[in-house]
Amino acid sequence: LRFRQRFFTIISRLIKVKRRNQTNVSAAAPPAHVAVIMDGNGRWARKRGLPRSAGHAAGAETFRRIATHCKNLGVKHLTVYAFSTENWKRPAEEIENIMDVLERYLTEAIGTMERDRVKMRFFGDTAMLSEKLRRLIAESEALSDSFDGVEVHLCVNYGGRSEIVRAAERLRSSNDEITAEAFEAQLYSAGIPDPDIIIRTGGETRLSNFLLWQSAYSELFFTDTLWPDFSERELDGIFAAFAARDRRYGGV
Ligand code: FPP
Repeated sequence: LRFRQRFFTIISRLIKVKRRNQTNVSAAAPPAHVAVIMDGNGRWARKRGLPRSAGHAAGAETFRRIATHCKNLGVKHLTVYAFSTENWKRPAEEIENIMDVLERYLTEAIGTMERDRVKMRFFGDTAMLSEKLRRLIAESEALSDSFDGVEVHLCVNYGGRSEIVRAAERLRSSNDEITAEAFEAQLYSAGIPDPDIIIRTGGETRLSNFLLWQSAYSELFFTDTLWPDFSERELDGIFAAFAARDRRYGGV
């Protein structure tokens, strides 16, 4: 029996090695869910002698480009960290500026999302946002219900720990049995597959309270590129590296 087990282990390893060598990157299926920590807007602006607000405006443009590229490649879900629960610590002027960028982005997006097939959903405690932003959020979510397309999840006033605490509270009041599935159903990301890839630009190598539950098996990619400089070509390189990674989910 032991001999048979060894035989099967060797054969399955050989098959795996063969498969790995055959990986045809350009033909590989794109990841279903890509998540991004868009860091480095401030430094990008400083390097150019511009105010930080210029960095956030440039960051919103990069987001538009990268979202379009993801859609063209067939990515189904794109989640981005636009404003964290910790970002309230920034100077009031900068907070106002990021909110302005978001408002401008959403106002434009509402006019084009149905044509471009870009659905939008929001993760985070949006109750604390301005009335105008809340109205734009409600409008873009309602519109998203009416068509199919790539799903963009914008994390605004989002934090992974608060999301987990909120899910625990919701589960407690539901009286459902506590299981991983029941817990997941209470997260902002309910019904969405976990991210295959999490990318962080801007040189830091941490998750900073982003998708703590959902990142359990995500492949992590860190780049020194500042978010406004992040390109479609760099994303292609990350997807190619992803296709070559061996995801075992704890197996062998
Ligand atoms: C991190 O860079 C970026 C943010 C906190 C804000 C992200 C917001 C945008 C890209 C604009 C709005 C987004 C969308 C989706 C329209 P940082 O300011 O921490 O940069 P630094 O580390 O160089 O200071």
